[in-house]
Amino acid sequence: MDSIVVTGNGPLRGEIPIAGAKNACLALMPATLLTEEPLILTNAPRLSDIRTMSLLLESLGADSAALQEGQVLALSSHSLSSTRADYDIVRKMRASNLVLGPLLAREGHAEVSLPGGCAIGARPMDLHQDGLEALGAEIELRDGYLHARAPGGLRGARIALRFPSVGATENIVMAATLAKGTTVLENAAREPEIVDLVRCLRAMGAQIEGEGTSRIEIQGVERLGGATHRVVADRIELGTYMLAPAIAGGDVECVGGEIDLVRAFADKLEATGVSVEPTDRGVRVRKAPDARVRAVDVTTEVFPGFPTDLQAQMMALLTTAEGVSTLHETIFENRFMHAPELMRMGADIEVHGGTATVTGVPGLKGAPVMATDLRASVSLILAGLAAEGETVVNRVYHLDRGYEHVVGKLSGVGAKIERIRGA
Ligand code: UD1
Repeated sequence: MDSIVVTGNGPLRGEIPIAGAKNACLALMPATLLTEEPLILTNAPRLSDIRTMSLLLESLGADSAALQEGQVLALSSHSLSSTRADYDIVRKMRASNLVLGPLLAREGHAEVSLPGGCAIGARPMDLHQDGLEALGAEIELRDGYLHARAPGGLRGARIALRFPSVGATENIVMAATLAKGTTVLENAAREPEIVDLVRCLRAMGAQIEGEGTSRIEIQGVERLGGATHRVVADRIELGTYMLAPAIAGGDVECVGGEIDLVRAFADKLEATGVSVEPTDRGVRVRKAPDARVRAVDVTTEVFPGFPTDLQAQMMALLTTAEGVSTLHETIFENRFMHAPELMRMGADIEVHGGTATVTGVPGLKGAPVMATDLRASVSLILAGLAAEGETVVNRVYHLDRGYEHVVGKLSGVGAKIERIRGA
């Protein structure tokens, strides 16, 4: 297995290009199942999760082609040959469950494996299920699969989510586009990935209002057509690379990043003493190489709050802050797997339930580390940027799921980082 070796090497200077959002693209791709016409996605990120979604769509009978070095995805679901999302794919990538709503709406039935737990928590699908049942689906759990049927077709309904789940909102909105009548979704997720999905669905002919607010209204239509849609910038990749100069010192412009996508995060970063400034091309972050950042308290929340997907990376910064920081994780129950690894690098962290207390130390020391999920892995790379000596991050396949060219992007601003091919 490959590993990545990072050597703390002083300030970073230059530009880092920000890719299209993985999580937006993973929701946009299943929208192809709603139409017989082609769906073209531009600004797609080149990631293994995107290839996994292509394989899943192909297993259902869709065509998918990656053009222009993978930045353009041409998808077509002229005719489908299967409605079954197999455990083998779903267990690798939970977002596979986003085919459930579209398949049900288009074919009237679907069989989608339950994803099971993952490193960061239990991750059930009850909200997806309740929402689709409210639209008239009959769903039963058999052999580890949700067997969903809508014999009389889906009908619009009023649905109030118990929690504003991103995935459940996406599944319900996609299903409701082809349901008969009006669906009102209350307590909907407001994440930018939802806004992006709705814009694409609207370009395909869907009638939807209220994206980006807690109340989304969908007027079902007879059919959807094709569209060409540009995937929104990846706010989590943006936040991750904004932290690189904050940790190592320097002056980096994240080109293509949009500050409005990461306001809560950017405010916290500024509160640590780092300079954050929007530019006409993206976001510029500066920090004097020898200055220590200040401790801050962080609570993860749904959008527009501080994203859970940036908690691990923020913790990497706070390990060397002056003072004591607390991080409260409210979205996932088990999302501090990076803490013991950061401690192997000399960080002082105590975890109690959903709260981590980080007492800043003057510096970290390189060590061999590994991580059990995507964001945890990148937090270790960030920590390695400022650590003394070599940090070897193992299990790099987690990174390949969500960060394209991480080595190229960081070495482009002067980091000493390389990928070592494993046996
Ligand atoms: C998406 C993102 C993920 C991010 C998360 C929260 C994708 C592909 N992934 O995941 O990177 O960390 O949003 O911003 O877009 N829950 C239930 N029942 C359900 C569904 C969810 O209890 O039916 C709970 C989950 O266990 C979790 C919380 O709701 O505690 C948030 O989950 P959700 O918003 O659904 O996240 P995902 O869509 O899976």
